[in-house]
Amino acid sequence: MSQRVRGVIAREKGKPVEVTTIVVPDPGPGEAVVKVQACGVCHTDLHYREGGINDEFPFLLGHEAAGVVESVGAGVTDVAPGDFVVLNWRAVCGNCRACNKGKPWYCFATHNAKQRMTLEDGTELSPALGVGAFVEKTLVHAGQCTKVDPSVRPAAVGLLGCGVMAGIGAAINTGGVTRGDSVAVIGCGGVGDGAVAGAALAGATTIIAIDTDDRKLEWARGFGATHTINAREADVVEAVKALTGGNGADVVVEAVGRPETYRQAFYARDLAGTVVLVGVPTPEMTIELPLLDVFGRGGALKSSWYGDCLPSRDFPLLVELYRQGRLDLDAFVTEEIALDEVEQAFGKMHTGDVLRSVVIF
Ligand SMILES: NC(=O)c1ccc[n+]([C@@H]2O[C@H](COP(=O)([O-])OP(=O)(O)OC[C@H]3O[C@@H](n4cnc5c(N)ncnc54)[C@H](O)[C@@H]3O)[C@@H](O)[C@H]2O)c1
Ligand SMILES: [Zn+2]
Ligand SMILES: [Zn+2]
Repeated sequence: MSQRVRGVIAREKGKPVEVTTIVVPDPGPGEAVVKVQACGVCHTDLHYREGGINDEFPFLLGHEAAGVVESVGAGVTDVAPGDFVVLNWRAVCGNCRACNKGKPWYCFATHNAKQRMTLEDGTELSPALGVGAFVEKTLVHAGQCTKVDPSVRPAAVGLLGCGVMAGIGAAINTGGVTRGDSVAVIGCGGVGDGAVAGAALAGATTIIAIDTDDRKLEWARGFGATHTINAREADVVEAVKALTGGNGADVVVEAVGRPETYRQAFYARDLAGTVVLVGVPTPEMTIELPLLDVFGRGGALKSSWYGDCLPSRDFPLLVELYRQGRLDLDAFVTEEIALDEVEQAFGKMHTGDVLRSVVIF
């Protein structure tokens, strides 16, 4: 028996998204159906709509979600109907070459549901990041459900499912930010502000937020930025150096995903510092750097997939910090919207009006 529910799809490259009927199969072995309560609008959803990730249209968008498990398939023991969960796109396999090396946050064979959700005519949908959560109910692998304290606000903790976790983890897990560090974050959307908040949690003493939009910079201060730079008004590299004794930052997080901002990140870091690329570039982007600078400046150039997080470790921990008032997840939620307002939310992303729009069911 399958269920028919409402969801948001991107049918064709570059076309506005639409609300339509989605057919959700009953959970098979290892799978779960989750009643979605809230799902944030991430820039990656827009990348999907624009064909920037791959061409497997139609996509069922949405992937930063929290909800309640409705039913589980055979063999599922870690979650049960009624559990409050944050969905993740890293259900680790436990036996790929990364998992076997004891680095499951790189898992190369993460689990997704085996069955596909479809349109009414049977067309199979590609769920964004293997989740697909702009939908009243979604089918996922049970490992994609991370149980957390149920006393919290779904709209806030759902954001840990992608962007905010990616940002916090980019700073703490990938960048290794620690007490006393100087950190610069380029691009202060949901991901970049996650990095600002992560740097603050880790005890960084100088946290420089960089964006082209003053409102974003104001918000970044709320998450712990000690200094801000408007990239339209200042030379970013020179301004970061001026704020770090002429040296550059220990860790620079690039949360835009463009060659020009990557170049800024590269040159705004101190000798032996670390660049973390968490922004997602598109296929046509390239960058040229003097190889002598790559060598001569030392340090590490890293990429951060999902903040190198382990959902089972990081989600409950961050939810607890939120509960204690030490991580303001509510401040990421600029507005709560309805399912048919996702397209408008993409527009607001471009005009800088929101940090996160969150669809509420
Ligand atoms: N690596 C991952 O696992 C992961 C996870 C989620 C999102 N992402 C990616 O992270 C990036 C940011 O996502 P988001 O949801 O925060 O997007 P967003 O659109 O909310 O934020 C991007 C921010 O960058 C700013 N910006 C744009 N151009 C700039 C420039 N030249 N200099 C400084 N700031 C500039 C914008 O004003 C905006 O505030 C996207 O590329 C997204 O796909 C990566
Ligand atoms: Zn694995
Ligand atoms: Zn995302």
